[in-house]
Amino acid sequence: MVLAFSSPDQIRRAADLLSSGDLVAFPTETIYGLGADARDALAVAKIYALKGRPSFNPLIVHVIDRAAAEEIAVFDARARLVADMFWPGPLTIVLPLHPQSGIDPIVTAGLQTVAVRVPSHPVARELLTVFGGPVAAPSANRSGKLSPTTPAHVVASFGADAPFILAAGGSDVGLESTILDLSSDVPVILRPGAITPDDLSRVLDMMPAIAQTSDDDTAPKSPGMLLKHYAPSIPVRLRAVDVMPGEALLAFGPTQFMGIRGGGFARNLPETQIRNLSEEGDLIVAASNLFRMMHDLDQPVHTGIAVMDVPDVGVGIAINDRLRRAANAKS
Ligand code: TXA
Ligand code: MG
Repeated sequence: MVLAFSSPDQIRRAADLLSSGDLVAFPTETIYGLGADARDALAVAKIYALKGRPSFNPLIVHVIDRAAAEEIAVFDARARLVADMFWPGPLTIVLPLHPQSGIDPIVTAGLQTVAVRVPSHPVARELLTVFGGPVAAPSANRSGKLSPTTPAHVVASFGADAPFILAAGGSDVGLESTILDLSSDVPVILRPGAITPDDLSRVLDMMPAIAQTSDDDTAPKSPGMLLKHYAPSIPVRLRAVDVMPGEALLAFGPTQFMGIRGGGFARNLPETQIRNLSEEGDLIVAASNLFRMMHDLDQPVHTGIAVMDVPDVGVGIAINDRLRRAANAKS
């Protein structure tokens, strides 16, 4: 752990850490964020591992300005109007994912939409400028703890596991950004924040709907307002100990003992029909591969995806949460 005052030298150091796939805690005007290069699946997987988050919620991608945001998300006139009114500032906008965004699917949790935000905090802006790329960042705290508004909160939450922290005093807003979903016709506030429904209504020319969502998956939500989850178009079979003919295999760990029902070995399946989350059984590597590999195997020529058992410890808890959702989803 390094607690660094945000001088130009330390911001450079933080940007270098991001470039080498490491995590950096940094100040924003809302709360402190735990950042990783949004194009680097392994770096983003470390966020989930460090936070101990029990599920893969999609993350917010932080960029320097609207031009950078337009490389990641598809903007229409309405989105541009809202962005130009409130950016930089505590507003996150959910939009369709740009087909050439370069954002790893672990960031959007496999969804075809992406949440983008242009922060106003000078240190966050300097970090984004020096780093020169998109930064995925949830709050810099362990899952279930209060959102950090000072460097001391970040230290207290992570203890000896704390990442490099760019310190710049207390956050102004102290509350996570307002999230506005503009990915469909009706604007929906997914999370209330400092930018209010009234503020938004003046630009949108209508009152946005307000979703009863929560980061806590066990909290009640109003029907139809659920955060969408990625689901493959073919069935997903969990805890598979063999592969049925026609099925694709999503493996974890060694596969030499996996058989195909009726004869043959899984390791001889064609390359298009098998992916291994981590041959070494590394859960962080597995997390970084999960959504990309599910997408790879989600082909109509396969009758389904057989998934080998993933241990329910550490970031494996989040992997299993997503696998269960994929298995139960009626898409
Ligand atoms: O103020 C903030 O927004 C802070 C600072 C660090 O910028 N960040 C933050 O990130 O609060 P996080 O990861 O805690 O919030 C992410 C939330 C998810 O729980 C989800 O509700 C929503 O953003 N979200 C992200 N991507 C989404 C998407 N594609 N569709 C719908 N909701 C999305
Ligand atoms: Mg959060």
